[in-house]
This record gives sequence, C-alpha cells and structure tokens, in this order.
Amino acid sequence: KRVAILLSGGGSNMVALVDSMTGDHPARPCLVLSNDPDAGGLAKAADRGVPTAFVEHRPFKGDRAAFEAELMKPLLAAQPDIVCLAGFMRVLTAGFVSQWQGRMLNIHPSLLPKYKGLHTHARALEAGDAEHGCSVHEVTAELDDGPILGQARVPVLPGDTPEVLAARVLEQEHILYPAVLRRFAEGDRTPIFLG
Ligand code: GRF
Repeated sequence: KRVAILLSGGGSNMVALVDSMTGDHPARPCLVLSNDPDAGGLAKAADRGVPTAFVEHRPFKGDRAAFEAELMKPLLAAQPDIVCLAGFMRVLTAGFVSQWQGRMLNIHPSLLPKYKGLHTHARALEAGDAEHGCSVHEVTAELDDGPILGQARVPVLPGDTPEVLAARVLEQEHILYPAVLRRFAEGDRTPIFLG
C-alpha cells in the first residue's frame, strides 16, 4: 500500500508514521505534502528519502477550491492508496474529501467527539476533565467527524498547562497513529483503544 502524508508543521506524526513503515509492514510512504514550503516536516521527510512537495495555500486567498485543485495534482501523481492528515492545518472541502472517502485518515488531539476544532488541550483543562487524549478517524465532509479508528487516553494532572498536556497527548499520538495505520493498511477497521 502507498501512503501519502499531508502536514503543515514540524511533522512529528509524519516521522512516527514513516519510521513505522518498515519490514513486513504492508505500507510504504510515497509522498509528504505540505501547504507550507517552510514546514519543518518537509526536511524530515527528505532526510528519510520520502518524496516531498508543497502547494502554498496563501496565494489562493479564500479560494479553497482553487487551492485544493492544485493540491490534488502532486497527490494524484503519487497514486496513494491511503492519505494520512498529520498536523495538516487546512480545512478540506467536501469535494476534496469525497475523492478520498474511505481512504483518508486524520489524527485529532482530543477524545472525539469532544473538542472538535482547535485549542483542544486548553478546552479540556478549562472543563476540568480528568482525562484527555487523541483520536484517529476516517475523514468525512464534516470537520473532525467520521468513524473513529483509534483513541489513546492520558490523565490530566494537577498543575497541567495546555503545553504540558499537549506534550503528553502528542507522545500517545506517535504510538496510536502508526498502530491504526498498520491495521487500516491490512484492511482491518476495528478501532484501537489505548490507555
Ligand atoms: C499537534 O498539535 C498534534 O496534536 C496535531 O497536529 C499538531 C502538530 O503535529 N495532530 P506534528 O508534530 O506536526 O505531527
């Protein structure tokens, strides 16, 4: 199976995914694609010998469809079987997502359906939650929705700041996402629950 990974930033999730696709793993990375030419993840992907590309979203201003038409080009050229969003910070239209329906995954730093959208760690702290975590889900037209393929829980500890909690969650993201990708690549959509 060929896996394309979309990212916007440092790409720690991409690194965890790429480094997991070795040996008898049924998938291999075929592209790392960003909306930002300066994304740190692009250099990390290149260091690992994974082809990279970027399509800047800024020149398209609010024209999401035009940006996505460009984004689709390197993605189709890479001919992925699976597309993983990993710290990809652009909302994708229903039109784009529908072309990858059933083959696109995303990791979100909350225990969905709680805290869709941004600032999830601060919101969990604000709510006084005792637990928090991350979710991998199939991407559908609605933001941070879609069937859950995995979740990892972490405790919220006294004195936690959003940054400290985010780091605790991120550590679990790097375990959960590779585990879900391997199972998904084997054709198994049974959800994985950790912690
Ligand atoms: C992190 O906040 C992570 O929770 C979310 O995307 C952000 C950046 O992740 N999935 P990465 O280091 O670029 O993978």
